Amino acid sequence: MADSRFLRACRRERTDTTPVWLMRQAGRYLPEYRAIRARASLLDICNRAELAAEVTLQPVRRLGVDAAIIFADILLPVVSMGIRLEFAAGEGPVIRDPVRTSEAVARLRRPETEEIAPAIYNAIRLVRRELGGKVPVIGFAGAPFTVASYLIEGGSSRHYLETKRFMFSEPRAWDALMDTLADVTTRYLRAQVAAGAQTVQLFDSWAGALSPLDYQERVLPWVKRIVTRLRPLGVPVILFGTGTAGFLQVLAASGADVISVDWRVRLADAWAAIGPERAIQGNLDPAVLFAPRREIARQVRTILEQAGGRPGHIFNLGHGVLPETPAENVCYLVDLVHELGAASTAAGNEEQAAVDGITGER
Ligand code: CP3
Repeated sequence: MADSRFLRACRRERTDTTPVWLMRQAGRYLPEYRAIRARASLLDICNRAELAAEVTLQPVRRLGVDAAIIFADILLPVVSMGIRLEFAAGEGPVIRDPVRTSEAVARLRRPETEEIAPAIYNAIRLVRRELGGKVPVIGFAGAPFTVASYLIEGGSSRHYLETKRFMFSEPRAWDALMDTLADVTTRYLRAQVAAGAQTVQLFDSWAGALSPLDYQERVLPWVKRIVTRLRPLGVPVILFGTGTAGFLQVLAASGADVISVDWRVRLADAWAAIGPERAIQGNLDPAVLFAPRREIARQVRTILEQAGGRPGHIFNLGHGVLPETPAENVCYLVDLVHELGAASTAAGNEEQAAVDGITGER
């Protein structure tokens, strides 16, 4: 299992082809997911280990992806912090009592590990057993800034105005909120690893709403703390954000092993920015999955060319699979990456072997 394509790529080791999985690979674009959702709410699925496990496995069966991401939601842990969370149809997450004062921050509970999302830990155990080593399991959590943005705004947002107002005008309360979220997130991810997750991804989806300096000063220290505390577990950490092209070095300074980038930056430029010591994940525009196959193929080739077959590229979208995506195009994408990636990694491996020969490494 330590030898899986996906885990090898996280460690920047050579692989037989480019590993691929997709953010939001489970979800509404799959008829088998919709069938389960017809009789269970999103939170029901997250609270019932067998359902969460089943939904996690659906895309692995259908798509042949190289990793299974456990099914949950980045906002699930806030329920154990005393927040009332709902998912309203067509609206996304809704928090009716948003956290906008230092008192509200102080009232947040710091749940014990077992209280955070016990069904998810059990779902990870079930998925590991069911997969029998076929592909590794990715655990995940929301990063403190992105989770804070939902807590403060009360839902999705366009300008993150309340979040930024709070961050700029209540710096001590902001730090207290980040501190709480970083601690709960660390506990949650440690427990996922203890249950069997072989990598973890931190979703800082809305990081790109901030300026590089604000991210560096007011968010990065907390991400760094999480990464540092996970380090002893020995599992790779992936840090994902969108709109981060202007501060990829800052994300790399978190210490995460893999940086996941969106499509607003050339993969080659992004890799140069994060440096050769990190693996990279990305970065197809999810909307390309609505295009004709020749266009999907053209865009996949471009990304693989930019990766140049170098060890350490994990193919993914630049953000999650969109709900209306044709499932057959997603299957096509996964097969295509495996097919084209084989030639490209073979060339990259040869080049690497030549370099190692010259420098006498390995
Ligand atoms: O990737 C996977 O297959 C695992 C499942 C997963 C979900 N949410 C299930 C879900 C993951 C990794 C997430 C992460 C998540 N949740 C993020 C970070 C990734 C990103 O897209 O930026 C964010 C920002 C959220 C918060 C969230 N949850 C929103 C904004 C919404 C509504 C918008 C939408 O996509 O529907 C959700 C709901 C949600 N979470 C759904 C799923 C499958 C769809 C709701 C449903 O089935 O009714």
